[in-house]
Amino acid sequence: MKEQNIQMAVRIYDFTELPLNYQKLIELAKEQTQSAYALHSHFQVGATVLLADGEIIGGNNQENLAYPSGLCAERVALFYANSQHPKTAVKAIAIAAFTNGTFTEDPISPCGACRQVLLETETRFKQDIEILLYGKKEVFVIKRVSDLLPLCFSK
Ligand code: THU
Repeated sequence: MKEQNIQMAVRIYDFTELPLNYQKLIELAKEQTQSAYALHSHFQVGATVLLADGEIIGGNNQENLAYPSGLCAERVALFYANSQHPKTAVKAIAIAAFTNGTFTEDPISPCGACRQVLLETETRFKQDIEILLYGKKEVFVIKRVSDLLPLCFSK
C-alpha cells in the first residue's frame, strides 16, 4: 500500500488586487445574478465565461416549477459558450452569488456536475480554465479545473 497526497493551490485576493480584465469578468458575473430564475432557492448565481478571443458569455441559474429540471449558472454559461463558439477555447470563468439582498461574503464553488462539465471543456481545448470565485470578503482564484476535480472520470 502506498498513500499519495493530492494538493491544489487557491490564491486568495482582495477584489482590487485582481487584474482589471478579471475585475470586469467578476462585475459581469455579479450582474448576471440579477437575471437568475431562482424561484425555489432564492439563491441567485451568475457566471461569466471568458473566451480565448476575448468574448464574454454570461449565464445564471435557471430553476423550474418541475424542480429537478433546473440548471446551474456555470453550465448555462458554458453550454451556451460551447454551443455558439464550438471552436473557441475558454480561458476563465467567474462565479458570484446573491441571496437575501446581497452578494455572499464568502466565495461559492461550483458543484460536482459543473466541475465535470468545466473539466471536459478544459480537456477538449487543451487550455487551462482559470476559476474566479467571488465573495465580498475575498476572491478565490484557482489555476485550472483539473485542480478542482482530481481523480476525475475520463475515457
Ligand atoms: N447553483 C449554481 O447555479 N451554481 C453553483 O455553483 C451552486 C448552486 C444553483 C443551483 C440552484 O439553482 C441554486 O443555486 C441553489 O442550489
